Amino acid sequence: MTARIIDGKAFAAVLLENVAEHVTQLKQAHGLIPGLAVVLVGEDPASEIYVRSKAKKTVEVGMHSYEYKLPADTVEAELLALIEQLNLDPSVHGILVQLPLPEHLDEALVTNAIDPSRDVDGFHVSNAGLLATGQPAMVPCTPLGCLMMLRGYCGNLAGLHAVVIGRSNIVGKPMAQLLLKENCTVTVAHSHTRNLPDIVVAADIVVAAVGRPLFVKGQWLKTGATVIDVGINRIDQGDGTMRLVGDVDYGAAKDIAGAITPVPGGVGPMTIACLLANTVTACCRAHS
Ligand code: GUN
Repeated sequence: MTARIIDGKAFAAVLLENVAEHVTQLKQAHGLIPGLAVVLVGEDPASEIYVRSKAKKTVEVGMHSYEYKLPADTVEAELLALIEQLNLDPSVHGILVQLPLPEHLDEALVTNAIDPSRDVDGFHVSNAGLLATGQPAMVPCTPLGCLMMLRGYCGNLAGLHAVVIGRSNIVGKPMAQLLLKENCTVTVAHSHTRNLPDIVVAADIVVAAVGRPLFVKGQWLKTGATVIDVGINRIDQGDGTMRLVGDVDYGAAKDIAGAITPVPGGVGPMTIACLLANTVTACCRAHS
C-alpha cells in the first residue's frame, strides 16, 4: 500500500483564501481590519523564521501585523507591560508571544497575562479549561490544523481509535481534547509509555508530536492508518548538509499507512493558516 499524501499546503491555501475573504468583508461592511501582534524575545533562529513567516502571511490576507522584537535579557516586568499595552490596544485582536522564551522568563505567567479573548494561540489557562470542558474556546493552532486535515481525509472520526504521542500543552493535550470532542477513543502516549509499538498498532489515527526525529517506525503502524506528523527536526546528513524530518519515519510509514502528512508541507502551513483564522474570530467576537 502506498499512502495518500495529506497535502497541508493545499489545505492551508483553501483556509487562507477563506480568511482573506472574511477580512475583505469585515473591511467593507464594518471598516474593521483585524490586527495580530507577535512578540519575539531573543534571537532563536528557528523562532525568527516562524515569526517572519507569520508576519508575511498576516499581511498577505489583508490584516495588520505588529511585530515586537525584544532583547534576550528583557526582564519579566517589561514583557508583562508590553502585553498589558497590547491587551488594551483596540487595533490588536490577536496576541502571540513566540515560545520558547529565554529561561529567566516564566512561560505560564507570560501566557496567562494575555487577555484570553486575544489569546489566538489558545494557551491561556482559561482557553485550555474551556476546551477541556467542551465550551467554545480559542483552540491552539497546530492541533486545530491537524483536526481539519483529519476531518478532510477521514470524514466522521467518531469511534476511531486515535493515539496521540506527546503530551505537551501546545499540541498533545489539546489534540487529545479535540479528538475526544469528535468522539474518538483517545490514547495519549508519552516518554514513560511502555510497549509503545503495541499501542500504536491499534490506532486508526496516529498523531506524532514528540519532537524526536524518525521516532515512530513504519512497522508500528496498522495497515491503512492515518498518520499526522507534527515533528519538525533538523538532522545532520553526515555530509555537512542538514535535512528536515518529522517524528515519523516517513520512508517506511508511507508503505503501510493509508494517508500521511509529509514534513515539510504537512502540518506547518496549517498552523499559520489557523492562527490567522483565530485572529479573524477574535476580531469578530470583539465587535459582536
Ligand atoms: N513555538 C512553537 N510553536 C508555537 C506556537 O504555536 N505558538 C507560539 N506562541 N510559540 C510557538
